[in-house]
This record gives sequence, structure tokens and C-alpha cells, in this order.
Amino acid sequence: MTLRTGNRQAAVLLARMRRTTEHGARYPILAQLRDFGPVFRIWRGVVVLGYPEVAEVLRDTDRFGPPTPARRDVVQPGWRDHPAALLSADLVTLKGTGHRAARSAMHRALARTLGEDFEARVEDRIDQATERLAAEFSRTGSVEVMETVVEPFVAGVFADLFGVSATDTEAVLPSAWAFAKVIDEAPQLLDDEAAGTLLDFATRAAGSGSPMEGLSPAEVVGVVGPGLVNLTGAVGSLIQTLDQFPDQREDLLSGSIAPGDIVEELLRYDAPAHGTVRVAGEDVELGGIPLTVGEAIIVLTAAANRDPAHWVDPDVFRPARPGLARALTFGYGTHSCLGQSLVRVVLSRLPAGLYHRFPTMRVTEPPVVRPALLRNHLSRLVLEAT
Ligand code: HEM
Repeated sequence: MTLRTGNRQAAVLLARMRRTTEHGARYPILAQLRDFGPVFRIWRGVVVLGYPEVAEVLRDTDRFGPPTPARRDVVQPGWRDHPAALLSADLVTLKGTGHRAARSAMHRALARTLGEDFEARVEDRIDQATERLAAEFSRTGSVEVMETVVEPFVAGVFADLFGVSATDTEAVLPSAWAFAKVIDEAPQLLDDEAAGTLLDFATRAAGSGSPMEGLSPAEVVGVVGPGLVNLTGAVGSLIQTLDQFPDQREDLLSGSIAPGDIVEELLRYDAPAHGTVRVAGEDVELGGIPLTVGEAIIVLTAAANRDPAHWVDPDVFRPARPGLARALTFGYGTHSCLGQSLVRVVLSRLPAGLYHRFPTMRVTEPPVVRPALLRNHLSRLVLEAT
């Protein structure tokens, strides 16, 4: 296969992956993309799929740095004059001492709120969500849960984190989604309305007396944007995956599988974040492909998490499989996810609350995901409980 033909075929597959709304359809496409190698060239950059290559890129922020504002000056001159430019102080786009300072401030703010009290609040939010679901089931029988239950539930969890009302937090979700898409699919800018909604929310959330006091609004947006949408996506995936694997669900409810084992495998098998973006920090070779400084790198963590050279039977959902601690779902090293403890608290407590109350609950329609290259977020999930 010539490079040009291969490149075109890979581009078609990536475009299909970005467009699909069918849940799970991205994984067979990722498997096809492996034919082009663990790293392959596309457009004006490269795509990385192999486990060791993805780990190498995430680990080495000097050779493969985040897409910084300086990089954006090159690909999108004039962007700093736009009202949404303020939002580009997002943590993932920072480097060096600036990043370390902002990261440790955010880490401290999150740690302050993630004590025992927070776990009790999560339990309360789960109780509220199951009550709401019970009311919806008795009203209509069949419920689309993402909008009616999952989004308000996650908004409630974040409201507790930020000291803001759940209604306000839910109202910011569409803008958080738009923001996450902009981070993934730059260089277009977030529209003024979404940017304004996010900044207004973040300014209140960072206000005096709030758990996030001391962070800048832009830093709060860096938590609320991807955090809110990823947690929503993860809760949807958890419900969908437990539906697909009723035996494991039974084992979970009977106590023969620990919730943590289900959660870790879920995060490998069907994570809400499928990748991230990096830029070559110097002329460098990756997986035998030469890159020039400034070239874009699409890093597919979902592909690494199913790399058959690294995992035994990667497409099988197998809780407690060996090596799960090395899954790359939350990134790696300097920029690894600051929300991972919160995610684990929420996901490991949810199934007991949900399935003890609705043991016969089932997904009744093919679930729908939002079209996106680097996210895997259900937008529609219909359930029935008899
Ligand atoms: C299952 C859900 C989630 C997944 C799969 C996920 C995934 C990721 C990944 C892959 C990164 C690294 C990005 C990169 O290196 O370019 C990241 C960073 C980050 N995540 Fe998450 N995330 C999730 C939930 C959350 C939540 C709930 C929060 C907030 C409470 C959060 C806050 C952050 C922050 C602040 C960063 C930036 C860290 C830095 O650059 O130093 N995430 N996340």
C-alpha cells in the first residue's frame, strides 16, 4: 500500500470514527486503524495507537508537549483577541512552572472537598437519582436516563464540589460540552455565549468562601469543562456496560466481584475520554516516523487500552484482569487526570444504589453517543424496569 493511499484510507476511517453516533462502533474502527501501524502519518501530523508509543508520548512532555497558547499563535494568529481566549489557561495546555503551580493549587482545592463528607454527599446524590428514576419509571415506564437522571446527578456531584447550586451546574453542561470539543478539535474557538456562560459559572464557583476559592475562573473552567462531561459519559458507560454483561452485574451485586474491579475494567474497556492532543516539542522520531517541531499528534488512549500486543483478549470485558493499573485512561505523569479519585468514588458507589432498587432494569434501545473523535459520551440511553 502506498503511503498516499494508506493515508487516505486512514483519513476516511478517522472521519467515520468522528461522525459515528453508534455506541461501541469506534472500537472496530480503531482495530482497522492498527493496520497502518502503531504510529502513522495523517494530514499534517501523526496518529498514535500502540500502547508503548502512547505511554511514551504522554510521559515525555518535553519532546511531546501539550498544545500551548504559543503553539496556537502559529496555527491561529489573532485568537488572543477573542473573548474566549481567557479560557485557554486550561491546565492541560500549560507547561513547566506555570503548570506545576496551577496543578498543585487545583489539587489542593479538590483534595479539600474529597474527604469523608464528600462520599456521604455522593451517596445522597445517588439516593436522589434513584428516587427520580423511580418517579420516571412509574410515570412513563421507559426512561431516557442521560438527560433526565444522569446529567442532573453529575451536576449535583459537581455542585457539591464547587459550592454552587445543582440547577446552575446543570445549566452549564452544554457549554462544558462545547468547551471539551474545542479543546479536542482546535483550532476553532468557543462561541461567545458558551464562553460567557462558563466564565460566569466559574467566577461564582471560585468566589470567596467556596471550596475553589483561590483558583482563577479559567482554572475552574479547566476542571468543570472536561470533568463534568467526562463524568457524565462515564456514568452512562457504566450503566450500558453492566447491561451488556449481566453475569458480571450479578457478581457485583452478590459481592463476588468488588466494585473497584468493575470500575477499573470499565475505564479501560469503555472510557469517556478516548484520547488527547500533543505537539512535537522538537524534531523527533516516534515509532519510526519522523516529526518536525510543532507537528500535531493525536494520542488515542482508547486504542492503547485495547492494544492486542499489550492486553490479553483486549475486547473482552474482564474485571480484575492483570495490569489494569497500567491502563492509560487518565493519561500519565505530569498531566494525569486530577479528577480520578472523584471518578472512582462516584462509579464504585453507583451500581449498588441503582441495581438493588431496580434489579430488572434493562437498556431497551441502541444507545447513542455524541459525534466526537476523542470523547465517548452517551447522549441517549433508554431504560425500562419491569
Ligand atoms: C472517567 C472520567 C475522566 C476521564 C477518562 C478523564 C481523563 C483525563 C485525561 C486523559 C487527562 C489528561 C489529558 C492530557 O494529558 O492531555 C485528564 C486531565 C485532567 N482531568 Fe480528567 N478525566 C475524567 C474525569 C475528570 C473529572 C471528574 C475531573 C474533575 C473533577 C477531571 C479533571 C481533570 C483535570 C483538571 C485535568 C488536567 C490535569 C493537568 O493537565 O495537569 N477529570 N483527564
